Amino acid sequence: MNPKFGYPATADDYREKARARLPGFLFDYLEGGATDEQTLRANESDWANILLRQRVLVDVDEVDTATTLVGQSCSMPVVLAPLGLAGMMARRGEVQAVRAANASGIPFTLSTVGICPVEEVQAAATEAAWFQLYMIRDRARIEALLKKAWSAGCRTLVFTVDLPLPGMRHRDFRNGLASPGPRSKLLKIQQLLARPGWIWHVALRGGPLSFGNLSDALPDASNLDAFKEWIDTQFDPTVTWADIEWIRSHWQGKLLIKGILDVEDARQAVQLGADAIVVSNHGGRQLDGVASGAGKLPEIVAAVGSQIDILVDGGVRSGVDIFRALALGAQGVMVGRPWAWALAGAGEAGLTRLLTSWQQELRLAMTLTGVTRIADIGNDQLDRPHKPKYPKAGEQQ
Ligand code: FNR
Repeated sequence: MNPKFGYPATADDYREKARARLPGFLFDYLEGGATDEQTLRANESDWANILLRQRVLVDVDEVDTATTLVGQSCSMPVVLAPLGLAGMMARRGEVQAVRAANASGIPFTLSTVGICPVEEVQAAATEAAWFQLYMIRDRARIEALLKKAWSAGCRTLVFTVDLPLPGMRHRDFRNGLASPGPRSKLLKIQQLLARPGWIWHVALRGGPLSFGNLSDALPDASNLDAFKEWIDTQFDPTVTWADIEWIRSHWQGKLLIKGILDVEDARQAVQLGADAIVVSNHGGRQLDGVASGAGKLPEIVAAVGSQIDILVDGGVRSGVDIFRALALGAQGVMVGRPWAWALAGAGEAGLTRLLTSWQQELRLAMTLTGVTRIADIGNDQLDRPHKPKYPKAGEQQ
């Protein structure tokens, strides 16, 4: 189907709609990953290797996709992941996204480097948004940011730990995003002129286009190039596990640690009393060559799954992928790019439709695997259970 003419149905359909509407450098910023984008590709393709076990003639009259994630009731086990600059993808993007998420009964996570400030997002929300934190060098600013998020009503903090420095995203370099100057300005103007609809709807009617949560950090917060340069120098590579205790002492609500990709790190997160972890490689945007979320999840579930809630992200593109993540032992998933594609391509209504469609797909997957409750989804629904590579002693191959 050419999504320009038909009804968009899948995440990919919305991706094509977003491509047609966004200036090239913004679409690439959203789409791209680090280095050769191998991990980015693996994130999407690895879910397809998880085969499910179809069961028939089971009474599946009352299938329920509702669940609880980190103490919050949800219509399905999905959270919109934090995306920096989301308000550049659609007019007041984070506000539209929180409304669509809440209308669909799921949580929305606001990025530290979102465009809309936390107060604006919370004013539009019917359920408290989750707030994502990057550790920046200026600890007084972090303290103020945490206070701001708490006063606005946020009670769940997602602390992202896989960005001591921004990854090498070559698409951004080619487009001049990583190297401001007259040539990159020209490149951007050229791409902007090809998208007058974006200029009208987002640039002219969607302002201010600044980093809303940090707008008091620089006098000219509306100069995104200057601001991005500042923020890139602010990421703090000295952060260690000791800083988690510092955050704990400044945050009374739930704490998730996002960006865990190793069993030892998962164990540390448990030890430090995190409420949940997010198994994530930052959407393939940090270290190319690491495993996908789907690839790493079973090992981490086996090590700490009985002690802590586990969310996973990276490449989740359908209700069936959500089911696969649960079958591998996650309590829920985070979803990044698809929500911005839907928003950029078809606005708040488009995002709501995509989420509705995913819920239907999840319900169907439950029906055809013979489970009626989210809590009952597990290893038993996998066609080829993920066994260790070599059979254990006494086990048949
Ligand atoms: C991100 N991600 C991210 N994570 C985070 O903790 N804070 C942030 O500000 C951002 N910003 C951001 C921007 C863009 C454009 C992308 C694509 C990703 C990572 C994000 O939360 C999530 O981990 C991945 O997007 C999940 O992978 P998928 O669903 O995009 O494949």
